[in-house]
Amino acid sequence: MMLLLLSTVAFSKALTVNSLLCEYQVNPVGIDILKPRFSWKLKSTLRNVLQTAYELRVSTNAGDIQTGKQLLYTSGKVNSEQSVFVSYKGPQLLSRMRYYWQVRVWDNQGNASPWSEVNFWEMGLLNPREWTAQWIKTNNLADTTDGASPMFRKAFDLSKPVKTARLYITSHGIYEAFINGQRVGNEYFTPGWTSYNKRLQYQVYDVASLLKSGGNAAGAVLGDGWFRGHLDKWKNLYGKDLSLLMQLEITFTDGSKTTIGTNNDWKTSDGAIRSSSFYNGEIYDGRLVKSGWNTSAYNDEGWQEATVIDSSKSNLIAPVIPGVKKREIFRPLKTFVTPKGDTVIDFGQNLVGWVVLKIKGKKGDVITLNHAEVLDKENNFYTLNLRHAKCVVKYILKGDAEEVYEPHFTYQGFRYVKVSGYKGRLDSSMNIHAVALYSDMNTTGNLTTSNPLLNQLQHNIEWGQKGNFVDVPTDCPQRDERLGWTGDAQAFGSTAAFNMNVSGFFSKWLKDLSADQRADGAVPWVIPNMMPKTSAGVAGWSDVATILPWTMYTTYGDTRMLEEQYPSMKAWVNYMRDQSKDNLWNTGFHFGDWCFYTPSPTDDSGKGAVTDKYLIAQTFYAHSTQLLINAAAVLGKEDDVKSYTELLNQIKLAFQKEYVTASGRVLSSTQTAYLLTLAFDMLPEPQRVPLAKRLVQNIKDYGNHLTTGFLGTPYICPVLTRFGYDDIAYTLLLQDTYPSWLYPVKKGATTIWERWDGIKANGDLQDPSMNSFNHYSYGAIGNWMYHTMAGLNTDESMVGYKKILIAPHPGGKISMVDAALETSYGYANSKWEVSSGIFKMDITVPPNTTAKVVLPGAARKGITESGKSINTVKAISGLQQDNTDVQFQVGSGTYHFQYPYSN
Ligand code: BGC
Repeated sequence: MMLLLLSTVAFSKALTVNSLLCEYQVNPVGIDILKPRFSWKLKSTLRNVLQTAYELRVSTNAGDIQTGKQLLYTSGKVNSEQSVFVSYKGPQLLSRMRYYWQVRVWDNQGNASPWSEVNFWEMGLLNPREWTAQWIKTNNLADTTDGASPMFRKAFDLSKPVKTARLYITSHGIYEAFINGQRVGNEYFTPGWTSYNKRLQYQVYDVASLLKSGGNAAGAVLGDGWFRGHLDKWKNLYGKDLSLLMQLEITFTDGSKTTIGTNNDWKTSDGAIRSSSFYNGEIYDGRLVKSGWNTSAYNDEGWQEATVIDSSKSNLIAPVIPGVKKREIFRPLKTFVTPKGDTVIDFGQNLVGWVVLKIKGKKGDVITLNHAEVLDKENNFYTLNLRHAKCVVKYILKGDAEEVYEPHFTYQGFRYVKVSGYKGRLDSSMNIHAVALYSDMNTTGNLTTSNPLLNQLQHNIEWGQKGNFVDVPTDCPQRDERLGWTGDAQAFGSTAAFNMNVSGFFSKWLKDLSADQRADGAVPWVIPNMMPKTSAGVAGWSDVATILPWTMYTTYGDTRMLEEQYPSMKAWVNYMRDQSKDNLWNTGFHFGDWCFYTPSPTDDSGKGAVTDKYLIAQTFYAHSTQLLINAAAVLGKEDDVKSYTELLNQIKLAFQKEYVTASGRVLSSTQTAYLLTLAFDMLPEPQRVPLAKRLVQNIKDYGNHLTTGFLGTPYICPVLTRFGYDDIAYTLLLQDTYPSWLYPVKKGATTIWERWDGIKANGDLQDPSMNSFNHYSYGAIGNWMYHTMAGLNTDESMVGYKKILIAPHPGGKISMVDAALETSYGYANSKWEVSSGIFKMDITVPPNTTAKVVLPGAARKGITESGKSINTVKAISGLQQDNTDVQFQVGSGTYHFQYPYSN
């Protein structure tokens, strides 16, 4: 026994296990997954470490688990390398129960880790019947869209000390909840946006610390949100009434329990929030604040009784990820007066969130904040591109010594704020600041280069993501749209997965996609779908149903998600098959290569890069079918692999017959047509290289510019690289005249624009009906920047970064690229530097992974690792000289390679 203890302690230095996740979260409270999965990371100072076994244990009591007694479940020692998404296999999990878990691991170096720290997860309410609370609404007739926010309250006494307390809550509309005057939780726009009629999230909060003995009060305020607020040209899409469902369950130290649930005992009124909507902003009248309304001491005599409504609880689900939270804070960069005389604050970053005010003034003074992304050519405040979204916040002062205010149920996309009506000073960073709000996802990627313009491009891509990952992936965050456009999400998904951990975020959204997919398999243009049912089934948009699950699977190795999405993937492919005649899908409405280059809307030069929409449809039909086959192979669905492979052959033959000329030209002769044809292997092998040449010629014909829209852009640099044209890929990446990625950077962009020329060369702004300055689609180049320029990616043979592919393609006179990625296994890094004829490459491969490394432009003889010949490094195997590259396999650890290099 003594010996055993000693050896464990000695081993613990070499190997530990940390970063425990249950499903997609750290210690989630309120999940409803009956077989949750566990992930962990190994930490080791050694090289070449692989997990050889793990042991998991679970208990309902934190104390018991440490002793190893009274365990609910133990996996025993399982010989396996799996450390990501390991499924729980114990007894059935119960509603409300908190489960504690820990794990220990063994490695291939003879080490055993000590047990990890104890983490937990807690189940939500697994059966709709456990909701004893009732849906309530206000009976105020004025309660309509854009009206005052209804408030609800209930005072109650607690005579015994509280042991635990949980608040289970959701709403029709979005809520802010309070207990004894304190805001519950730090999430915004809860319960989030889902396909409400089928899936409505509830949140669970541990609120024990907010309760006290004696008088208590619970309350909530509701906003229109997505439920009945404006969405595109519609409103009241999910219903006309805001309502609340709130269930506070308290367990006392003596074991007894009580539940305070919404019912007609609750009181309702309205207060200071006179109007609040995503598009239009908020009107807040400080004079109408009902001070202390959410505390027990408040006298609610003037309040009315809430009305109980009969509304479904069977659509309630627990969230898989946290919602929107406050993130970065921005202080004013400068305050200035425009030529038109407006006082404007510049926050220096096009961000999504709101402005917080700390001000003094007379009772009844009105301060008005208008939000804008850009100034016009004359430096005046510009809001035309917001279309019908007012984006105005009005605050009416109470007249207190100091008033602090931030909006509640709205958010704006802005860099500039016009302030009117305020007499006080604004330039002090103390009294006004902006807060970015977006979904709570960990930043996983970091990419820097020796080129400042590329660094700004990467920054813009990241901020395009932050601003548009507001509970669902949106097209843009500012105008009267802000919808889950599927085409944008499929184009940007793989880039997004480098920058942040989006596995939970997209797995939630994909469930809404399945929920909203039509019975005939057509996938709506937007998810959650709030458009007519006919707005569905378009090439390059609906294909998000196959593209995103596959991207998530390859990035995170989430097989269960792939399995859950499989019926949706298949239904989408079947939809296209059903629309096709002789395997050709050439009917129906399509958006095409949205926002492609054209010299002018009335172009007659023939330079407009219009790609035949049905050609696009046929290529995406093939691509989706291929991804379905890939998924079927992973899931062991051999029959599907066989039948869809046959279908795919037919789709490609039909394509070749319809769109390829005898001389091998593709109709249309555009970059996007070539790219989709090549990227999706639409042609037999011998015809591909000649087509790639045509692509390059086309790029040259446009003076080394891209002409692609949303659908072609993600593929341009990857296809050029694949066919040996890194030089052209770099030329496009570094091009800084329109159309190009760096043109907006040079124009001062801090996010990715919807159009290549949102601001024209002469300073004019593009057509305001479609000119968002925060649209992430073109940011899809980020994928190539990580994957190829930096050379960091998962090896497809072992997805989810279990095997890493480190294969940089230096070029473009860039002397340094450093990309880091927090993978599911830990920190991975690929950094290269070229100077004075020496190529240096520093890499980190996390424990429990291996990497295939390809050193570019290297000769085996000249390579050293940490100063020694590469041949002597133990963790390296399979060294092989390959034309100008050297490749090998390497185990985990950090390595420093160096060799002579000429470019
Ligand atoms: C959105 C796009 C979207 C498109 C459909 C636009 O209004 O902003 O990003 O994909 O409609 O073509």
